[in-house]
Amino acid sequence: MYRFFHYSLSGGCGACLVLISKYNPETRDLEEHSVSSCLTLLCSLHNCSVTTSEGLGNQRDGFHSIHQRIAGFHASQCGFCTPGMCISLYSSLSEADKSSRPEPPPGFSKLTVSEAERAVAGNLCRCTGYRPIIDACKSFCADVDMEDLGLNSFCKKGETLDISKLPPYAPKSVCTFPESLKNESEPIDEFKERKLNLVYKSELGEPEDGCWITPTNLEELMEILRSEENGNRVKLVAGNTSTGYYKNQGNYQKYIDIRHIPELSMIKREKEGIDIGAGVTLSKVIEVLDEEISSRNEPHLVFKKVVNHLNMVASKFVRNMASLGGNLVMAQRNEFPSDIATILLGACSSVIIRTPTGTLSLSLEEFLGQPPCDPQTLLVSVRIPSWSGVPLSKTEGGNELYSLSLNNGTGEVEGESELLFETYRAAPYPLGGALAYVNAAFMAEVLANESTGELVLGHLSLAFGAYGTKHAIRARKVEEYLKGKSITHSVLLEAIQILKMTVVPREGTSKPDYRSSLVVGFLFDFFSPLITSSGKLNKSTINDLVSAASNPESNIDKISNACNGESRKSTSGISSKQVVEIHNDYHPVGYPTKKVSAELQASGEAVYTDDIPSPKDCLYGAFVYSRKPFAHIKHIEVESALASPGVVSFVSAKDIPNGGQNVGLKAIFGEEPMFADDLTEFAGQPLGVMVAETRRLAKAAADQVKVSYDTQGLEPPILSVEEAIKRSSFFEIPLPPPFIPQQVGDFSKGMAEADHKILSFKVETGSQYHFYMETQTAMAVPDEDNCLTVYTSCQMAESTQVTIAKCLGIPEHNVRIITRRVGGGFGGKATRAIPVAVACAVSAFKLRRPVRMYLDRQTDMIMIGGRHPMKMFYTVGFKADGKITAVHVDCFLDAGYSVDLSPIIPYTMTSALKKYNYGALSFNFKACKTNFPSKSAMRAPGDVQGAFLAETIIEHVASTLSMDANSIREKNLHNFESLKLFYGTYAGDKLGYTLPLTLEKVIILSNFNQRTKEIREFNCTNRWRKRGMSILPIIYAVSVRPTPGKVSILNDGSIVVEVGGIELGQGLWTKVKQMTAFALGRLWKDGNDELYEKVRVVQADTISMVQGGMTAGSTTSESSCEAVRVACDVLGERLSPIKKTLLEKAQEVSWDALVKQAYFQSVNMSASAYWVPDSSSNEYLNYGAAASEVEINLLTGASTILRTDMVYDCGRSLNPAMDLGQIEGAFVQGIGFFVLEEHVVDSDGMVTSNGTWTYKIPNLDTIPKQFNVEMLSTGLHQDRVLSSKASGEPPLLLAGTVHCAIREAIKEARKDLHSYKSSSNETIGEECSATFRMDTPATIDVVKRLCGLDNVERYLQSLVHHH
Ligand SMILES: Cc1cc2nc3c(=O)[nH]c(=O)nc-3n(C[C@H](O)[C@H](O)[C@H](O)COP(=O)(O)OP(=O)(O)OC[C@H]3O[C@@H](n4cnc5c(N)ncnc54)[C@H](O)[C@@H]3O)c2cc1C
Ligand code: FES
Repeated sequence: MYRFFHYSLSGGCGACLVLISKYNPETRDLEEHSVSSCLTLLCSLHNCSVTTSEGLGNQRDGFHSIHQRIAGFHASQCGFCTPGMCISLYSSLSEADKSSRPEPPPGFSKLTVSEAERAVAGNLCRCTGYRPIIDACKSFCADVDMEDLGLNSFCKKGETLDISKLPPYAPKSVCTFPESLKNESEPIDEFKERKLNLVYKSELGEPEDGCWITPTNLEELMEILRSEENGNRVKLVAGNTSTGYYKNQGNYQKYIDIRHIPELSMIKREKEGIDIGAGVTLSKVIEVLDEEISSRNEPHLVFKKVVNHLNMVASKFVRNMASLGGNLVMAQRNEFPSDIATILLGACSSVIIRTPTGTLSLSLEEFLGQPPCDPQTLLVSVRIPSWSGVPLSKTEGGNELYSLSLNNGTGEVEGESELLFETYRAAPYPLGGALAYVNAAFMAEVLANESTGELVLGHLSLAFGAYGTKHAIRARKVEEYLKGKSITHSVLLEAIQILKMTVVPREGTSKPDYRSSLVVGFLFDFFSPLITSSGKLNKSTINDLVSAASNPESNIDKISNACNGESRKSTSGISSKQVVEIHNDYHPVGYPTKKVSAELQASGEAVYTDDIPSPKDCLYGAFVYSRKPFAHIKHIEVESALASPGVVSFVSAKDIPNGGQNVGLKAIFGEEPMFADDLTEFAGQPLGVMVAETRRLAKAAADQVKVSYDTQGLEPPILSVEEAIKRSSFFEIPLPPPFIPQQVGDFSKGMAEADHKILSFKVETGSQYHFYMETQTAMAVPDEDNCLTVYTSCQMAESTQVTIAKCLGIPEHNVRIITRRVGGGFGGKATRAIPVAVACAVSAFKLRRPVRMYLDRQTDMIMIGGRHPMKMFYTVGFKADGKITAVHVDCFLDAGYSVDLSPIIPYTMTSALKKYNYGALSFNFKACKTNFPSKSAMRAPGDVQGAFLAETIIEHVASTLSMDANSIREKNLHNFESLKLFYGTYAGDKLGYTLPLTLEKVIILSNFNQRTKEIREFNCTNRWRKRGMSILPIIYAVSVRPTPGKVSILNDGSIVVEVGGIELGQGLWTKVKQMTAFALGRLWKDGNDELYEKVRVVQADTISMVQGGMTAGSTTSESSCEAVRVACDVLGERLSPIKKTLLEKAQEVSWDALVKQAYFQSVNMSASAYWVPDSSSNEYLNYGAAASEVEINLLTGASTILRTDMVYDCGRSLNPAMDLGQIEGAFVQGIGFFVLEEHVVDSDGMVTSNGTWTYKIPNLDTIPKQFNVEMLSTGLHQDRVLSSKASGEPPLLLAGTVHCAIREAIKEARKDLHSYKSSSNETIGEECSATFRMDTPATIDVVKRLCGLDNVERYLQSLVHHH
């Protein structure tokens, strides 16, 4: 696995995790933890051993049970994330097994289920939807209920799973630190100042003036720092994780490793607080505070809350490296929106710093407020006060260090005061892995006023950070205002007004109004429980508050508990149920066989394009791309980059050979240029490729290129659909008949029949980036006679071949495209992979050397385009009972600068829109040509927007009529007659129309009626949390394309299969293998069970298998299977007479004997087929339905998917395990589209959400807490491939349930908002209406906006008014 260093380089995905082990010769302890290799500096690994997933186990030595269980629970699809997942799990197992917990029963580990659920938190997976990965993790836990674990290949049909069936796990069975290395390990205190000279070299082997120094005590370090005051580029290095955020810092002349300085790694426990060395990792801080909490044997509120919050900072594998001091210095020096600075500020922490002139003790507030510290300043330690009898003391700056001396901090009332402490954060991910929009930490002392008996506020510390500020601050004015006061509604309202003037996001901060509303929400959450009806507090109230606050689960949600006395439903555990039917009709087709190569994927041995070792003399390319959306390119200044050592060439349009053409993509509907020549048409357009001896040098050279642009004489760029409409900038492509969407009925007549009308209402959908874990990559290797072999990770090998041939002006037989497997595609490696392969080919052709490219995540996100954003206007006519009579849609899709696959969108979009019977449907589409990267196919392209629009229309009709949306859905559901009218031949036969049955099943599975009742009750009793539930159907049309297949039987009876389709993780190879075994097995009466193991499906190769077409549209697996079946039939026909003859001499004929005889008789043992589906049956409809329940938090806008139940008609599934994986994975990707993934561009149209920091795909914490899937197995169906149906894309649309459920919850929130009137004659505006527009994605801030950014103030104002 070569998956290190060059992917996201941000520590944000977990794909490159390795295990680092360090041996301490004195204690003989082995410390080990997972780290992101992309953030780890090689020199920091001195004395460590590194274990990859392959090191845990592999094919030769035997796989580890982690690999086997990941495979058996079907937890690896494309497999690109899987080695990282395995390392995370191994690291958690190893940590648990080292603990002093009681020994688990044999076969299990000491890991608990709740820990297992967090084991892979922080690792991203774009394919699986996480559920099966969690199941694999949980299978190691002694407290697991085996019945809760999902579909797996360990037990046969009807069996129940028990530990004996699972691959055995034995702790400590892996040697992660070889004995030989132990002897070499030096005791840490024997470290001398170590100068590892020339530890880094330039990649060409030329020494650079750099070194790595490891001082071992503070004085040595200070001495080095003093000597470096002359301006050398010096860097203190602790965990180096800051480079994930602050990329491209370049090389330093000196790296000073500060991890071996005792003062920086010390932990000192004092009665007054705990001193923690700045170099201590966050994982260690958590461990130490946890120990402290348990050693005191009492609930220590402040430490507990700090630990709680630290667990939400980054991910475990980052916290394992990240130091406390590093974080605070980033906050102080670089304005990093740190959580830690804020929470420690709230806890009134202090720091000790060393400068070349001396030592300073400062409050954290003083430290943060200083000018950014210079490289010579060292943060030595941090003190977190324990809040137990701390005497008041002063800092050198004269500020208070700790002012409270009254409290024992334990949550128990002592004397006359009590302490409250709480921390907050609101971020796109609920539990960590995303930077906060705002974070906060509040401490309040509550005192009894001796004269009045009222409880009043004493010392306060109210810290806010990340809201668009240089650094975290204390809201001093609010503290002053509140001090000495009892909390009442009007006091709180006044405090909020002061707060809003104190905590103000600075100019240029994104979503400033949302952040301001969070600030208010947090303060309200903290103080409002202190308001009692009498206006006075008593001890029992405060005791309740403190114990609620000590509850680790209690964060912002506690307000609902405190206000409503409602116990918090645990949302932490993830549970699931899968119902699949297994049929034996076509054995082994239909069996949930585990994925081919799943173990290899888990161990990291599976070879992806970039894992192919570089051939001799291989060069590396990096794109130089335009920074302007529409401009003439005056000059590209490449000279200085070319002069850099190791840089070989700049390849641009000028290098297209004679006879070739500047074509980067030749697809069905048109072409696009490879390189912008005179004119650039979008920010991110390739201008050329910098080619160098190494990847890093190529990237550095590309970054160095300066381009001058000229916009004179050009119109301004088109950077909005509105502008495109204004300037009539549209693609007008004549469409072939299958892609022309059909209008239905007479729209005017339908409108005339309507009782109500909605006229031209607007709704928008955003873009979505594919976020395949493996970014675009290719390698072109030149061969004799102007031939080229190009290895590429793509979904359209044939088109890649055609485009390269055209670009280079050579015949197609000179170009061979090979794709073994793809690390996730989702449509993004259909057309969009082609220019990357072409760029490599042009470079290799010019330079006559192999050239490879691997796009870094940022470049990939900037260039690739993603899903089509749309602006839609709908007009609807409907009856008073909710029956829709007519719909018209005007849809403007942003196609970007080139046509790509955009012309199919109207067809796919309307096809999903037609899921309801609108009586009449008309539409008008415009594909807008804009100056954005070309938008392209992304899983369910157009369909997902169509399904969304259908639901928006339903919701709108429902709210207009004040009716329940689900009853409107029911009223407008198709009967078979209307289905035929809307879908024509796709509708198939009546028996096949399973949608009503599917919906019925979901109603039962989800217990819909009962739960909607419970939700109503919940909403009546909760003010700041609301729930909503929604159920909806989908219809998804697919068509099956012609596909080739070739089956060859070798001498030894093994079988090799080639197909047109490419393995993207969807399980195509597995299904093809099953089909081959089934089809050849038919030579025997009861089939031949051994054949499956003899089949190998091999990589796509355009020279060996022509007309491969594309792998897209959900049907390639079935068409590839069918092609293989036809080829097998040919072989069967050749073999069966031989078998017959053999049977005349023997009772049984084995496969091997048959093959031997056939070879002897010179039978052609290879058969190819090009399967062309019958035009009467090459299209069909897929049906599914789902119900989701969500809970939204009205103070932050955060939504939690409490439960999803889904029923999907998969026909007779070819492999239920593969299809289930597709269904769940698609649904979770859909969650991303509907609620999470925000695609942001700047004023030049350049994508700015271009990495894991800014673009949030669903993670473990955003999937449904309960996720139940039933695969409806329908009857045999002649017209489909062994009666199967597609599963890859359609279920993505079902994530619309989450959006609709959020809308239901928001409706409830707006009802409350409506009731908050501060005067009786106040008129309530649009913001409270039940009819509102909610686009996609409905991100956390959108939800909050729709619930009322000022909902807290309105609420308080109304109460103040009524009092
Ligand atoms: C994926 C990811 C997610 C994250 N999410 C969050 C989050 O949600 N909330 C949050 O608060 N943080 C988050 N972080 C930030 C993380 O906490 C910091 O990157 C980390 O704590 C820095 O520690 P380090 O040891 O790696 O520092 P390094 O990278 O080694 O150093 C950081 C900087 O501080 C300097 N430095 C380090 N130690 C000292 C010292 N003792 N004295 C003086 N200078 C010093 C270094 O020279 C460097 O300039 C995230 C980081 C990553 C990679
Ligand atoms: S299997 Fe996880 S990203 Fe593909």
